[in-house]
Amino acid sequence: MILTYSTIYHDGTITYGGYSDTMVANERYIICFPENVSLEASAPLLCAGITVYSPLKYFGFAEVGKHIGVVGLGGLGHLAVKFAKAFGAKVTVISTSISKKEEALKYLGADSFLLSRDQEQVQAAKSTMDGIIDTVSASHPILPLIDLLKTNGKLVLLGAPEKPLELPVFPLLMGRKTVAGSATGGMKEIQEMVDFAAKHNITADTELIPMEYVNTAMERLAKGDVRYRFVIDVGNTLAATKP
Ligand SMILES: NC(=O)c1ccc[n+]([C@@H]2O[C@H](COP(=O)([O-])OP(=O)(O)OC[C@H]3O[C@@H](n4cnc5c(N)ncnc54)[C@H](OP(=O)(O)O)[C@@H]3O)[C@@H](O)[C@H]2O)c1
Repeated sequence: MILTYSTIYHDGTITYGGYSDTMVANERYIICFPENVSLEASAPLLCAGITVYSPLKYFGFAEVGKHIGVVGLGGLGHLAVKFAKAFGAKVTVISTSISKKEEALKYLGADSFLLSRDQEQVQAAKSTMDGIIDTVSASHPILPLIDLLKTNGKLVLLGAPEKPLELPVFPLLMGRKTVAGSATGGMKEIQEMVDFAAKHNITADTELIPMEYVNTAMERLAKGDVRYRFVIDVGNTLAATKP
């Protein structure tokens, strides 16, 4: 298999993925974007967007009135809120950062906000959610999240912490609850997601940067200082360097 980035291609050259100026792809792997959408604000849909859209559909969360929790308000999380709201769900953002409350409720349109380290708030929300989309990238306890689920509720892990998480089994048995994972989606579903996003005006919140800003962007990423995705303007950066 030849991966999109940093892999040796058949002719010995290295694959540059999204950093390439041109790319040849089989038509089966081409997505059609509706004319009127902003490509820079839609580019993250091809990763973060489909990663949240696919489990929302597959696990039955994409239904009017379902109560869905979104854990971690970052690149994946902010799109999970937008898609879940567009599906008609009631959305609660579950976050470690109180500073994101206003953003979650006023700007993204979440119905409620749960500060995950506030035991009283967590206790009050026990057994209220049909499903939870967990986007946290670091190790974290999942028992409090399992407790937020109703009977038959599903916790879907999308984040990829380096260390294994602890899985408490008894609370799963008693409520016939499910802990699952999901990664991206197939071509057909990506096209469906792009069309759905265009219809509902869903784009990612992005900051467009030139290539020479990448090192600063990496430093800011490490501090969580981005709302919510950097998009590198490869076309204009390359155009500026051409003789
Ligand atoms: N399954 C897939 O196919 C797939 C696809 C793309 C990405 N991913 C993975 O999904 C995860 C999230 O990606 P992302 O781009 O959304 O990341 P991100 O923008 O950094 O968002 C992650 C969020 O998790 C929360 N968080 C809580 N505790 C944290 C901690 N100790 N360290 C860091 N974050 C913490 C933060 O939200 P609060 O401040 O709200 O708590 C943070 O904004 C990553 O692990 C990524 O590799 C998986």
